[in-house]
Amino acid sequence: MTLTERLAEYVRACFTGIWIESHEQQDALMAIAQLCQREDWRLATWNIEQGLRVAGTVVEGSGSDPLAAIRSVNALATPDGTAILVLQNFHRFLSSAEIVQALMQQIIAGKQNRTIVVILAPVVQLPVELEKLFVVLEHELPDREQLAEIAQGIATEPSELPEGKDLDRVLDAASGLTRMEAENAFSLSLVRHGRITPDAIWELKTQALQQTGSLELHRGEADFSSLGGLSALKSFCKRALLQPRRNERSPRPRGVLLLSPPGCGKSQFCKSLGHEVGRPVLILDVGGLMGSLVGQSEQRTRQALRVIDALAPCVLMIDEVEKAFAGANGSGDSGVSSRMFGQFLSWLNDHTSDVFVVCTANDVSKLPPEFGRSERFDALFFLDLPDRNEKDAIWAIYLDQFSIDRDQRRPDDANWTGAEIKACCRLAALLDVPLMQSAQNVVPVAVTAAESVDSLRTWASGRCLSAQQSGIYQRAGSANSRRRVSRDPSSN
Ligand SMILES: Nc1ncnc2c1ncn2[C@@H]1O[C@H](COP(=O)(O)OP(=O)(O)OP(=O)(O)O)[C@@H](O)[C@H]1O
Ligand SMILES: [Mg+2]
Repeated sequence: MTLTERLAEYVRACFTGIWIESHEQQDALMAIAQLCQREDWRLATWNIEQGLRVAGTVVEGSGSDPLAAIRSVNALATPDGTAILVLQNFHRFLSSAEIVQALMQQIIAGKQNRTIVVILAPVVQLPVELEKLFVVLEHELPDREQLAEIAQGIATEPSELPEGKDLDRVLDAASGLTRMEAENAFSLSLVRHGRITPDAIWELKTQALQQTGSLELHRGEADFSSLGGLSALKSFCKRALLQPRRNERSPRPRGVLLLSPPGCGKSQFCKSLGHEVGRPVLILDVGGLMGSLVGQSEQRTRQALRVIDALAPCVLMIDEVEKAFAGANGSGDSGVSSRMFGQFLSWLNDHTSDVFVVCTANDVSKLPPEFGRSERFDALFFLDLPDRNEKDAIWAIYLDQFSIDRDQRRPDDANWTGAEIKACCRLAALLDVPLMQSAQNVVPVAVTAAESVDSLRTWASGRCLSAQQSGIYQRAGSANSRRRVSRDPSSN
């Protein structure tokens, strides 16, 4: 449902306090004006700069007094009609007790004479007194149809606007942008290239997302061939994402939780998955959502989730999720992170958008237990240290990448991860020394963090799917588990 449709419903049902959260007030105002005209409702708007305007004309002497603005709504009432007063950016005035009181009275009185107060603001900041008196509506980001309209409005020649599949690619690129951002992106693309192209829009979108401070768009060239091993994980995700849905009721893939010691390729996997299945990868930085003001973090979380939904189909990556939501168990920040975590969990459960979520973690003990419940993800995968064949595949990738002679003698790589093989090759190339020598600078994580690797394996055993071969991950019998970290895991 669009903003106008929802607003119309609430006004008809005589909700006299409506808060519209919008970053595009001009656009929202236009939609409200059109609705009022269609329904024959009286409309007045107020902002501090222009004072009161009724039916588009400024009311002389209405001034910048917000209290007078609230009271003016009664003058609009008609015996048998509906009147709407839109107060722009009124959240700025709600720290005054007088104004809060005046609003409370107006909203209750409005039920009698059908006068409705709409607050239009970029955030939702309701004081407790008003919480139950307002309904909150979100001004949604434009959908594909609206974006297509905007593009048509900007292109003046038919040759400037792509058609068919090319138009689809432009709309894919523009989804998640506000109307204004889309307009700017289309115009800039026209100025630069003489036509609207997806590449120019992606570039602008990347910048627009960076400004949110919490979302980053990853566009890399790497696909699954950049990762050695992990065959079960690769084929699971590819199948889940590329399998056509039989019908509308078929489930959508939700995502996977990846667990492993550091350096086993979790982050790299997320990034290459996007390219592999042709979806953009969004990286959510949960730390960037934290705000210093009351309610700000929750507000930003909501906004980020909205942008993510609008960017579907996409892959969403949340790296080191146990650190991201540390504190979700209660202590410390007066419950902010546990509320954000709650918001995120319910989104994970309820979202109907085509967003495939990949979360990574390397410490389960810090992960809130609700998280791993199986219905939130399609699967939980454990990425163990690579086995012999996998390591050979990884060596091959990096020997190639760093132009190192393939026949060179290789160091003992028992207990090495992919990251360590890469580091060894990189150092050999950087310092121009043989692999045997650069290997002396590599300290495998399975040795430095033997205990945590060990407990991770124990936890994952029987609980997670193996990323390496199909089926459930089972660690070797506990009798030799101690020895196993100091031995090549592939040798048994
Ligand atoms: N199986 C693999 N094949 C190829 N490269 C790998 C593999 N595993 C790890 N690497 C390389 O090692 C580096 C570190 O990997 P990555 O950052 O993906 O690990 P991670 O599991 O996310 O680690 P952390 O838990 O520390 O975040 C990357 O450059 C990645 O390409
Ligand atoms: Mg990582």
